[in-house]
Amino acid sequence: MIVPGSSSQLLAAALADETDRRLATATYDRFPDGETLAAVPEFDGESATVVATTDSDAAWVELLQLQDAVREAGASHVTTVIPYMGYARQDRSFADGQPVSARAMARAVSTGTDRVVLVNPHESAVADFYSVPVDVVDAAIVLADPLPDLVDPLFLAPDEGAVGIAETVRDAYGTGETDYFEKHRDRETGAVSVSPSDASVSGRDVVVVDDIIATGSTMSEAAGVLTDRGAPRIVAACVHPMLAANAVTKLRDAGVDRIVGSDTIERGCSVVSVASVLGDALGADTVGGE
Ligand code: R5P
Repeated sequence: MIVPGSSSQLLAAALADETDRRLATATYDRFPDGETLAAVPEFDGESATVVATTDSDAAWVELLQLQDAVREAGASHVTTVIPYMGYARQDRSFADGQPVSARAMARAVSTGTDRVVLVNPHESAVADFYSVPVDVVDAAIVLADPLPDLVDPLFLAPDEGAVGIAETVRDAYGTGETDYFEKHRDRETGAVSVSPSDASVSGRDVVVVDDIIATGSTMSEAAGVLTDRGAPRIVAACVHPMLAANAVTKLRDAGVDRIVGSDTIERGCSVVSVASVLGDALGADTVGGE
């Protein structure tokens, strides 16, 4: 049975359809003091696949509760799908006294599951923080589906780390060049600057591809350079459309025409689902029946 976190109900339903499994109707309540209370139906020895994005502190608590609840309800085997792993960018202690938050989260999650599936975590090395088997899934391929017809497209990574997913999207789209900018982020202020490549963008549609748009600083810096160089159309594509604070308006202001994201974080721009990719990853994970 698929058990959704409150922020992943659409994705969980799509995954249930994709894998022909039942979808649990979990409940998400709060006590008067604000504490979370998530609950699940009976399981009768079925296996459980908890699908819960962790885009907020509350979502992490809810995930831990759902894991515990399915065990209490008799689930024979628990798989935890984390479509977006929050805190994954805190994968080391950046200053004296700071925690390795990704490790802390992974340790907590590992206590309540037999297996974990992560979608495009910031660094795949965070998988090592879990003490249960982890599958890391690259869902960038789905971002090609909703792209409009593009003129002489350039698939651009806003930093070197995103080159791989830019190439994946280009390959799935079927034609186009790839290139990347070099990025510098000031750790104190969070301000981003990019060193552009020589790629000509005049008369070309540009798809800027990244794993996540969080504050939108990276994407808007890249888009601003592309706009100044005369790119006629800029599409911002990402697996995880976090779009915190004023990210959407920053992107619009920088000249982005369209934002394309997946449903790892369910937003208005989540125009494509990672359910098919997750379905493949879950495969024969039917221990104890579904
Ligand atoms: C960084 O390496 C990531 O790939 C993203 O470029 C970054 O996390 C995006 O963050 P923001 O939208 O805050 O610039």
